[in-house]
Order: sequence, then C-alpha cells, then structure tokens
Amino acid sequence: MNDTFLKACMGEKTGYTPVWIMRQAGRFLPEYRKIRAKVDFLTLCKTPELAAEVTMQPVDILGVDAAILFSDILIPIEKMGLKLKFYEKKGPKFSNPIRTQKDADKLKIINPDEDIPYVLETIRILRKGLNVPLIGFSGAPFTAATYMIEGGSSKNFLKTKRIIYNDPQLFTSLMEKITQTTIAYLTAKIKAGAQAVQLFDSWAGALSPNDYEAAAFPYAKKVIEALKPLGVPIIYFVNDCAGILSIAARAGSDVIGVDWRVDMAEAVKKVPITLTVQGNLDPCVLFSTKTHIKEMALDIIKKAKAARAHIFNLGHGVLPETPPENVKTLVEFVHEAGDI
Ligand code: CP3
Repeated sequence: MNDTFLKACMGEKTGYTPVWIMRQAGRFLPEYRKIRAKVDFLTLCKTPELAAEVTMQPVDILGVDAAILFSDILIPIEKMGLKLKFYEKKGPKFSNPIRTQKDADKLKIINPDEDIPYVLETIRILRKGLNVPLIGFSGAPFTAATYMIEGGSSKNFLKTKRIIYNDPQLFTSLMEKITQTTIAYLTAKIKAGAQAVQLFDSWAGALSPNDYEAAAFPYAKKVIEALKPLGVPIIYFVNDCAGILSIAARAGSDVIGVDWRVDMAEAVKKVPITLTVQGNLDPCVLFSTKTHIKEMALDIIKKAKAARAHIFNLGHGVLPETPPENVKTLVEFVHEAGDI
C-alpha cells in the first residue's frame, strides 16, 4: 500500500509530497456524473457498492495518495432527527431546523451500527480494494450546528449567532449532542477501517476569534481528544482560518488544513512544529494555465518546507466546473516536484 499520506500525517519524511483533493469524489469528474445521472445524491451515499465506486474514481483517474469516503457531513445530522433534502440548485435543506430548546431536546445521539450501516459497509468494501489510505470525515460540531440551525447554507449565519449570543443554554446543549454524535460516528468509521479522519470546520471562519474560541474550538477539541486513543491521524480543516489559525492549531490534531486566503509561509509560522500542514491552493487556480498552476503549487510546496511535513491539497473543495486534466496535471506536478 502507498502509505506516503499516512507518513506525512505523522510527520515522517517522505520522498515526495503526498496529495489529495477535497471533494475529489464528485461532480468535476464525468465518471461521477455518469453514475449520478442514474441515482439521486442521497441514494448514492446510501448504496455501498456505488459509494465505493465513486470513492475509488479519483484514485484511479488522478493518482492521488489518499481516498476520501464518498458520503456527506449531513448524513449523521439527518439521523439525529432532521429531515434532509438535497435540491439541484439550492443545495441541502432541513425542513425542521433547530430553533428552540424543545427542538434540541428531541435530537438523538446516533448509534452508527443501526443508523448508518451503509457508511460502515462502504468502508469495509473499500478497504478490500484500495491501494491508498482511506480518509473518513465528519463536519466539525460548529459547522454541523450551522446547518441544523440555519436549515441549510447561509451567508451571515445570523440565526446561529443569535442563539450563541441570546440562548447560550440551547447552544451548549445542542453542541454537546452534536459532539457526542460526531465522536460515535467517527469512532465507528475508524473501527470499520478508516485510516485517517478529517473534521471539516467549513464555516468556523465566519466567527470572530473570541466567538471561535468559545463556540467552536472547545467542541472540535473534545472530538479530537476522544478519537486520539484510536491511533489514526486526525486532520482538522478550518476554512477561512487566517484570523483563528493559531487557536485552531491547539485543538490537538496531527494535521491542520488551511484555506488559500492565508499565505502558506504565514500559516506555517502560526502552527507549532508538532503539526503537519495540509493545503492550500486556491481552487480557482485550476482554471488557469498549466504553467501558472505549477508555479502556484511550487510556491506552496517551498513555503511548506518549514513545517514538519506537508500534504498538498486545495484550500477548499474542487469546484464542479474544474477541468479534470488540470487536476491531473497538478497531482503529477506535486509528485514530480519531489523533495525540493
Ligand atoms: O470527495 C469528497 O470530498 C467526498 C465526498 C464529500 C461530499 N461532501 C460529497 C458531496 C465530502 C467530504 C463532503 C463534505 C461536505 N458536505 C462539506 C464540508 C466540505 C466543504 O466543502 O466545506 C459540506 C459543507 C457539505 C454540505 C453539502 N453537501 C453542501 C452544502 C452541498 C451542496 C453544495 C454542493 O457542493 O453541491 C452538498 C452536496 C454534495 N456533497 C455533493 C457531493 C459530491 C454534490 C451532490 C451532487 O452530486 O449533486
């Protein structure tokens, strides 16, 4: 098995920089769209053979050094008791969002074996066939809470922040339940065979540093601490992290994922040498020329040399319109750039 990615997670020296791409199993690949044309998104997530197939596509097509399980951060939330629908243009929507203490009290902490057997089965299928490590993932508790409170995606997260400021008891009880669910969910994924896990804090960057430290950080830290004894590398990705990176880096993860809005040299300075960094090419650079893509990738690789180890990735998910051949060029270039 190619274990370059796992070695870099733990800070070991590798001959080249391992690379994988957030949202690599998805719509930018025609091979994914072909399967999606036949089934809706949630059915795809819940059908192990198909979910395993789309998980493997980017490994075969792009030559990345890790696979990420095809699923979604909203799957465990649905099982806590929210009604989830995905709409083609509007994205995910929960029709019964959490607004009151009564809403939160009704939520349950999931039992993975009963509630998400298809996720665990997908992992077992994948571990038989994959020749690269398999990453399991979850939303970080704050990011999960934004979907549960807003009922979908949001621009200002006003409903979430109103609850943080005006009903701290509701917010805390909701976060505790999400945290327990996240721990149960990721523990089950690891036991089923996930060889690393990534916590996506996609919307934590919408918080001020003070609010991040009070309302998001402690819960992410609690999840990470609970998973540590299981012995697999833990990646904590915080989108829009520039203002909160030095706090996020104290959550206890082995790897910190950074978005592109922060220069890699600056990011490395804010992160203790006991962590590996992951990132951070702007996904839009993949719409540029191959020469420019290589230049920007090389700049990141050089700057990340000051960290204990580096896993190359984009600074957020690959966009659906991205030309697949440019992603392939990027992966090949990162591999060839070697130990500069
Ligand atoms: O390749 C992979 O990364 C594995 C699969 C994966 C998906 N979602 C599949 C997906 C992963 C890791 C996610 C994580 C996820 N889901 C996040 C965190 C990462 C991030 O981008 O910040 C978030 C916030 C979600 C919630 C979500 N899922 C939204 C807002 C949407 C609609 C917008 C969009 O990107 O389409 C989804 C749908 C979704 N999740 C798709 C895929 C492939 C598209 C569904 C389709 O095929 O139509």
